[in-house]
Amino acid sequence: MKRTKISDLLHREDYGAEVCVKGWVRTKRGSKAVNFIALNDGSTINNVQVVADAEKFDPEMMRLITTGACISVEGEMVKSIGSGQAVEVQARKIEVLGECPSDYPMQKKGQTFEYMRQYAHMRLRTNTFGAVMRIRHNMAMAIHTYFHTHGYYYFNTPIITASDCEGAGNMFQVTTKNLYDLKKDENGKITYDDDFFGEQTSLTVSGQLEGELGATALGAIYTFGPTFRAENSNTPRHLAEFWMIEPEVAFLDQEELMDLEEDFIKYCVRWALDNCQDDLAFLNKMIDPGLIERLKGIVDTEFVRLPYTKGIEILQEAIKQGHKFEFPCNWGDDLASEHERYLVEEHFKKPVIMTDYPRSFKSFYMKQNEACTNVDGSEGSVGYKGAVAPGPTMQGTDVLFPQIGEIIGGSVREESYDKLMSEIERRHMDQTHLWWYIDTRRWGSCPHAGFGLGFERLILFVTGMQNIRDVIPFPRTPKSAEF
Ligand code: 4AD
Ligand code: MG
Repeated sequence: MKRTKISDLLHREDYGAEVCVKGWVRTKRGSKAVNFIALNDGSTINNVQVVADAEKFDPEMMRLITTGACISVEGEMVKSIGSGQAVEVQARKIEVLGECPSDYPMQKKGQTFEYMRQYAHMRLRTNTFGAVMRIRHNMAMAIHTYFHTHGYYYFNTPIITASDCEGAGNMFQVTTKNLYDLKKDENGKITYDDDFFGEQTSLTVSGQLEGELGATALGAIYTFGPTFRAENSNTPRHLAEFWMIEPEVAFLDQEELMDLEEDFIKYCVRWALDNCQDDLAFLNKMIDPGLIERLKGIVDTEFVRLPYTKGIEILQEAIKQGHKFEFPCNWGDDLASEHERYLVEEHFKKPVIMTDYPRSFKSFYMKQNEACTNVDGSEGSVGYKGAVAPGPTMQGTDVLFPQIGEIIGGSVREESYDKLMSEIERRHMDQTHLWWYIDTRRWGSCPHAGFGLGFERLILFVTGMQNIRDVIPFPRTPKSAEF
């Protein structure tokens, strides 16, 4: 008999029909006369209740139906009175497809997430991870749908690259060289002409630079792929391998970039509210009682647009009022997550798009704001809506979210050849691997902008989960690449 998915079965009303369901046993309870088996097949958070009259089945077989066992059930679909669902299955035939002895690590309820991470191969079968993974899938669909319906082309950028987009130098090297017998030149430096690509290559930290090549030809593109960062940050917000969505758009200015960031992220959250109701209700009940309210709040709220310089003023005012931060926050300092969260969660109580960051800690490719002179003769700049900053700033526009901190990092790109080159030189950057990028500013340069959304940070926000290791099937973090 053809199998029915539980997600479909629970919506049927043709009571009396013969059906076949297959899945994993969540619980079995009952009396001598009748057993109730809660069965889940991953198609939905909801279980279907299977009712098995003891007299109809071999007691030996019934004993094998334990939590985690995989079974196939044929029987009659009947209206349910007690199972919490409209439908249950009155079993006629049960087959145990896979037994599950009592050493099954996911057997007990209420295990900690730390414990479950040791069993990443089995944790997917729990309610929480099922819900998170279904939402993750739905967010991927939302993202592709958003860009497709807004006229963006899905553009695939390389994973192996010779350039370091963010310039942070935290890349994983890719080589086929024999590390036990490295060829070196006469100065003792490792050579790469004998390596697979004939030069030093790494896993990409971002598809942006190639994305810009796409946008300045196709008008609007987006990437959606894995990115890699060898930063040794053991935090609940960092992975060594994460997925990033990077739209890049020609003829977009700073205000329009912020409009895009806000519209896009609201669309994704709305998609979750519309399409993941059962899973969100489960997470709201079991993980985070404020979750659904928070998601609804985001969709209805206008994000704050705040120049960095104003943000620093607010933080310094908070310090004056007695608020304690661990890290300093003077003009020119990169904000720590405690600062971002203060602004978002305590001061504004809504998402903030921060813009016009100091040049000192942002990337070389960002559009430079117009320079002006401070009263003391030093160089200041004029940015968003004419706001003046005491030092050189760039049109970086990051989105800061409650619970998460930075969820999007974006910017308008410097389209002027001269300005871009002077910045590359000012930073003493090695231009060997950037010549093709620089060419875009030589031939038909155009204003353009884009951003990167950390996919797992979006999933953290939408699921209410606390640790980024729990929103990707198989996390990669320092000292951890099992599974
Ligand atoms: O701010 P980032 O470094 O920006 C870029 O890579 C730009 N090239 C993007 C662009 O403009 N096209 O990273 C973008 C986002 C961050 O805001 C964060 O959400 C996420 O990527 N991210 C990480 N997520 C998980 N683990 C990490 N180690 C991450 N590093 C960045
Ligand atoms: Mg960033």
